[in-house]
This record gives sequence, C-alpha cells and structure tokens, in this order.
Amino acid sequence: MDRDYKGVNIFLTGFMGAGKSSVGKILAQNIKFRLVDTDEWIESTLGKSISSIFSEEGEAAFRSYETNALNSLPTGDLIVTTGGGIVVNEHNRKIMRDKGIIIYLHCDIEEVLKRTRGDTTRPLLQNKTKEQVNELFKQRKSYYEDAHYQIDTTNLTINEIVEQIILIVNEHKSKCQ
Ligand code: S3P
Repeated sequence: MDRDYKGVNIFLTGFMGAGKSSVGKILAQNIKFRLVDTDEWIESTLGKSISSIFSEEGEAAFRSYETNALNSLPTGDLIVTTGGGIVVNEHNRKIMRDKGIIIYLHCDIEEVLKRTRGDTTRPLLQNKTKEQVNELFKQRKSYYEDAHYQIDTTNLTINEIVEQIILIVNEHKSKCQ
C-alpha cells in the first residue's frame, strides 16, 4: 500500500512497558518517518541517564525536560515515542494534541509487570508492589484516554500494533482530506 503519510505527527503514549519504543521503531521504518524518543532526547541533551535525573533532580525536573523535548521537536513526518508519565502534565497533552495525533497504547497491568520484570532503568518501578504499580496506572488512566485513538496491545504482536496504527493514520488522513 503506497499511501502519502506526509504531514502527520504521531505521538505514541502509554504506560511503561506498553511497547511504545519497539512499536515506534518498526512503524518509522514502515512509513519512513523520522523517530524521536523523548526519553532518549532528554538523556542525550542532558548527558545523563533517566535514573540519575530522577535521583539527583527529582521527578518534577524530569517532567519539565519532557516539556522541553516536546517543544523542540522537528516539524512534520514524525513519530514521537514518549515516556509513560508525559501525559500527566496537561501542558504536555496540549502540545501533543496541537502538533499531531495521539495514539494511546494500552496494556494490561499483568502484562506490563511481566514485560518490565527485572528492569532497573525505570525509577518509578523500582521496589514497587503490583498494587503500587496498578495505583500509578489508575492515577494516569484518564490522561492516557485523553488521546485521539487507543489500541489495546495486551495480546498483540509488535507488527500487529504497527498494522493497526497504519490503519488509523490512513483513516485520519482520509478524514482530513
Ligand atoms: C516514566 C516512564 C519511562 C521514563 C521514566 C518515567 C513514567 O519511560 O520516561 O522512567 O513516569 O512512566 P517508558 O514509558 O518508556 O518506560
């Protein structure tokens, strides 16, 4: 299928472990868009790991760096994979909404826990019980759902998720034409 995707900015949101980064990479190859990952942007701009930012500067500082990342995006034909907490800040949701389409990748908590077991890079998952992780998800649920589209990725492969996103983008493009 040779569709013209030009001019669409796609923001992938969702909880930690939902598959945003893996999906973003394959999607970018498929539709030949540039890819920006806000976590990577922050780490390379500051020259610091996410864990160091959280431990040395705190979560609020990290959230403001996420806003900087969104404000610094190049324009057009872009996939942006975001950190799981970017939606908590209303201003961040507005920037994403103004610049493109937000696709929320939902994943059930049981599956999130399986996928992130043993992970040491996510400060907000360290030494947390399942109940605490579930509580964090519940606090954010309505912000995630404040998206243009939603996909339940729990039982889907990366390629299946990419296919669904391509359908969404095509549908979105035809509505805008
Ligand atoms: C966070 C998610 C992480 C990263 C940071 C905070 C969150 O990104 O931004 O550890 O608050 O949910 P991923 O969703 O890519 O794991």
